[in-house]
Amino acid sequence: MAKVKSKYVCQNCGYETAGYLGKCPECQSWGSFVEEVSAPQVKAEVETLIDSYPPMRLDEIEMNSEIRMSTNISEFDRVLGGGIVQGSLVLIAGDPGIGKSTILLQTSGELCRSGKKILYVSAEESASQIKLRAERLGVKSDSLYIYPQTNLELVKKHIEDMKPDLVIVDSIQAVYTSMIQSSAGSVSQIRECCNILMHIAKSQNISIIVIGHVTKEGNIAGPKVLEHMVDTVIQFEGDKTKNYRILRSIKNRFGNTSEVGIFEMGEKGLSEVINPSEVFLKEYNQTQTPGSTIIVTNEGTRPLLVEIQALVGTTPYPAPRRIANGVDTGRVLQILAVLEKRIGLNLSKQDVYVNVIGGIDVTEPAADLGIALAIVTCVRDVVFDSSTAIIGEIGLSGEIRAVNNIEKRINEAQKLGFKRIIIPASNEIQEDIKGIEIVRVKRILEAITRGVNYGN
Ligand code: TYD
Ligand code: MG
Repeated sequence: MAKVKSKYVCQNCGYETAGYLGKCPECQSWGSFVEEVSAPQVKAEVETLIDSYPPMRLDEIEMNSEIRMSTNISEFDRVLGGGIVQGSLVLIAGDPGIGKSTILLQTSGELCRSGKKILYVSAEESASQIKLRAERLGVKSDSLYIYPQTNLELVKKHIEDMKPDLVIVDSIQAVYTSMIQSSAGSVSQIRECCNILMHIAKSQNISIIVIGHVTKEGNIAGPKVLEHMVDTVIQFEGDKTKNYRILRSIKNRFGNTSEVGIFEMGEKGLSEVINPSEVFLKEYNQTQTPGSTIIVTNEGTRPLLVEIQALVGTTPYPAPRRIANGVDTGRVLQILAVLEKRIGLNLSKQDVYVNVIGGIDVTEPAADLGIALAIVTCVRDVVFDSSTAIIGEIGLSGEIRAVNNIEKRINEAQKLGFKRIIIPASNEIQEDIKGIEIVRVKRILEAITRGVNYGN
């Protein structure tokens, strides 16, 4: 009989050792090792394996273009790169309670309407709980099958019998395979379950969407290993206390990454936000105070106008505080250093808070100039002209650097009624854009003179 092996696995990153360790040498987390016992595995004899795909010469391979299934939810399709690719494994990750089950039940309803057969494996909730949610969302369908089950072998059997167009597994942390003896939700279980699902997707050409909860630290729970295994990773983000939800693609073997879809959570589930810039600017004109500016950021291929707010005040602490929400703190520190060095703004005894309104994260440096001008207007106590939008990256010597997709950004600002836009002088503009005054600036000081002093 084969020996039963036991090993210790880091529940954070999946690192394995033979004995217990207090600290993981891979991800440096403490106390994360758990003993896992793997069931003896029978080694397959090479002769008995069926080799269905022998090595082929590149020019012999026939190209079959990928078949995509539209979800009929355009924001979701956009994030997926144009619909769900047949035979792909997609991971939707997000905090508990953010709305993962909701969006997938809605998607199931939409797909059924176009004649698709869906198997919704509910490992966390009972069938009647799902039914209740479906009633609330108005999802009715005769080709949507709800299967409350946690055992993956049984799920596999039903997939083979039913041959659905799409399988949803809610969630990967709650299912288990009998091949492994550790409990559901452990790294080994998650990894093995994901492997089994990947095999089903590829061998039977069935699309599978799995839901994964994220840990407090924001990692996809159990693990980064999941991210590497699946075809597409979509993160579901948003502030739970607010109604906006953002679907963001962070890995996609079949499409563009960093593409976003924006939704609003309401009484009847999630609805698409067709013009997100309008939503993010809703309160801007009514509540404008010194220290707020509008930037045009790029989310995937789409420009998005968002408000930046800064608050600067004398610090009561020995060391001034710098706190950033929605933008990288390191980036804000760099902007503050440039403002101190290049225009002589003295912030050494000032607390600085920077906030992106609407609960979204702005990750690109094109937001720099907007952040800088928000800080400067707050220090000078003047209101920035509400009809001017700002784009530009700031270099260490105070120069304003070019950004990508400039035409799209300017057009978006113009469409939303902005009369003026400040952009880097080094950006070439190919299109003829009318209806908006374009102010080109080379250096931070010039941006302040032409931006902050305008109308004040
Ligand atoms: P859910 O999809 O269960 O979250 P997850 O699967 O990511 O854990 O969504 C839970 C939250 O969404 C819950 O707090 C209630 C809220 N919600 C609504 O506001 N409206 C709705 O129509 C539904 C179905 C849920
Ligand atoms: Mg759920």
